[in-house]
Amino acid sequence: MDLEQREISAETITPTFVEYFGQKPTVVAASPGRVNLIGEHTDYNDGFVLPMALNNINVVAVAPSPTGKHRWVGSLGDTIIEIDPADATKPGDPFWSNYVRGVICMLERRGIKVPPVDMLIDSNVPRGGGLSSSAAFEVSVCTALSALCGADVTPTERALIGQATEHEFVNVPCGIMDQFISANGKKDHALMLDCKDLSYNLIPMTDPSVSVLVIDSAVKHSLADGGYAARRKNCEDACAILGVPSLREATLEMLEAKKAELGDLCFRRARHVVGENLRVAAFAEAVQKGDWEAAGVAMRGSHASLKDDFEVSCAEVDTLVSLSDTIPSAASVYGARMTGGGFGGCIVALVKSEDVEKVAAEMLDAYREALGIETTYLVTRPGEGARVLAQA
Ligand code: GLA
Repeated sequence: MDLEQREISAETITPTFVEYFGQKPTVVAASPGRVNLIGEHTDYNDGFVLPMALNNINVVAVAPSPTGKHRWVGSLGDTIIEIDPADATKPGDPFWSNYVRGVICMLERRGIKVPPVDMLIDSNVPRGGGLSSSAAFEVSVCTALSALCGADVTPTERALIGQATEHEFVNVPCGIMDQFISANGKKDHALMLDCKDLSYNLIPMTDPSVSVLVIDSAVKHSLADGGYAARRKNCEDACAILGVPSLREATLEMLEAKKAELGDLCFRRARHVVGENLRVAAFAEAVQKGDWEAAGVAMRGSHASLKDDFEVSCAEVDTLVSLSDTIPSAASVYGARMTGGGFGGCIVALVKSEDVEKVAAEMLDAYREALGIETTYLVTRPGEGARVLAQA
């Protein structure tokens, strides 16, 4: 994965679209990847998450197809795949087309009939690094297609369509966080989402003295591998023992009271979720006050809990997080943690802006020295959520 950014926009995708299809796109839409600042594995437990949108985007250009068939190109340089309209709402090959098929199916379930389209997709959201390239894909397809159909599909509805696509067409039992932030993100703001009722607060992140640093562990993750689904199951089992509808309703006292019945595994899984919800609240308060030290404490606590109680980190990611404490410029790092589903992917750190490039360089050097792995980083600020870039 390469975290460096290649510029993409309506201007860059349009000429390629014309080359493929001999017509101009009617709509070009974009939707971003995300980095989660805190609140991990809480979304499917009706809890709180606090992600921000990236400036890395998935761009989708569409126009009605004159051929009566769908014609899609999955990424620049690929060949066109042709799909019969009757098959476009069913899972099928190639695998990536399921992201589009799912969205078309979910739109049709809402009474929005999508005509056969010519579609070209381009993205600069790194794949497989826990930065939600798939959510960006689903939400941008949904944004483009609903604009093409003149249908008023709210951002939250687009997020739900993306999530249903993951569940039914991609076989990933994800929560709502990634699609939600991709659809609803706001430039210069993080977003604190209550996953129980999908209400949210935008939290300004405009302090120029602090930067968000994302570093790739270069370990690929896949949420379809079973570890994610297993964690969901542990949480459901814990709820059944505690007699609560979701871990949102549990407290640390309740866990202690039923410690023996829960058993070590479910106890630790549940303790992570309950504690993480508290850390999200503490982090939000700290950011609002500009208390970056306190924000960093919550991030470190989050990582420790994900590593020891939820067990979704891995050695490489743990190494990166530990190095943020020992590099020469460690004093400029407020806090660091793994981000996303886990089992690889990236870490996110809050760093003093004046030292962020120095910290990044030291981290890359130290990581190479420790594990012999070359990697990349991204210094970023909160980007904008899904939007139509151009419409004819
Ligand atoms: C993945 C899922 C999200 C969320 C995170 C963990 O990114 O897609 O719904 O569960 O893992 O916080």
